[in-house]
Amino acid sequence: MTRGTTNPNRLRRMDRWIAAVHGAELRRAVDPVAVDLGYGAAPWTAVELLTRLRAAAPRARVVGVEIEPARVTAAKPYECDGLVFRHGGFEIPIPQRPLLVRAANVLRQYEEGEVSGVWRRLCARLAPVTESSRGGLLVEGTCDEIGRRHVWVALGPEGPRTVTFATRLGSLERPSDLAERLPKALIHRNVPGEPVHAFLRDFDRAWSAAAPYASYGARQRWIRAVRDLTADWPVTDGAGRWRQGEVTVKWEALAPRG
Ligand SMILES: C[S@@+](CC[C@H](N)C(=O)[O-])C[C@H]1O[C@@H](n2cnc3c(N)ncnc32)[C@H](O)[C@@H]1O
Repeated sequence: MTRGTTNPNRLRRMDRWIAAVHGAELRRAVDPVAVDLGYGAAPWTAVELLTRLRAAAPRARVVGVEIEPARVTAAKPYECDGLVFRHGGFEIPIPQRPLLVRAANVLRQYEEGEVSGVWRRLCARLAPVTESSRGGLLVEGTCDEIGRRHVWVALGPEGPRTVTFATRLGSLERPSDLAERLPKALIHRNVPGEPVHAFLRDFDRAWSAAAPYASYGARQRWIRAVRDLTADWPVTDGAGRWRQGEVTVKWEALAPRG
């Protein structure tokens, strides 16, 4: 049993990103179900996910799923319209195929070798791709205790799509500060010869080159550095997201070798 560490507002950056990139899918769905998998010792992140998703998709509902039964009992009093808590794990104990599964700070307690199997299992549970939908989204990643530094992988039913780095810019010395929050699939790969290591090295270089922009604020410096990165790395988002202290890159560019 782990401590189940969580905090109010810890996952705000992830929630905000999900609402921005997946809000339209959630809005279009007849029954947009989202799962907060491994919500922890208190149900804050599930409560907040519901609020933030409903701002983008008013019919959204959230199911909090926890493997520790005592955490489900503790969360039950917080059930409300659109929010329930269930005991379970990677099988996801609900009848529907959810449009969103968010697993934050869950896989860090597993072995690196288990990640691809867990991803496959969770992706198989996502709402399928149809003519009018890209299908469900799995967002799996890690952050610090108060949510200033995050890195997550987004996966569709077909597998991994992107990696997002998100940070409070005021507290950042250099982009590679985010290395300690890499998700389990990447954290042991931040070594020479691996793509994620090359990416963070190039990001630090771009950040140094953008130092003159610091006089306009860390946000302008980040935007400039990310713009430079786009010359060599497949960045999939634009200035609107960079302004939030984010950057998203295609998974294939950062995937571990071998
Ligand atoms: C560190 S807490 C994270 C809480 C919250 N997601 C956050 O980021 O603040 C990890 C939680 O995941 C739960 N957990 C671990 N493996 C799980 C699994 N297979 N299914 C559901 N929950 C799991 C643990 O019991 C623990 O409460």
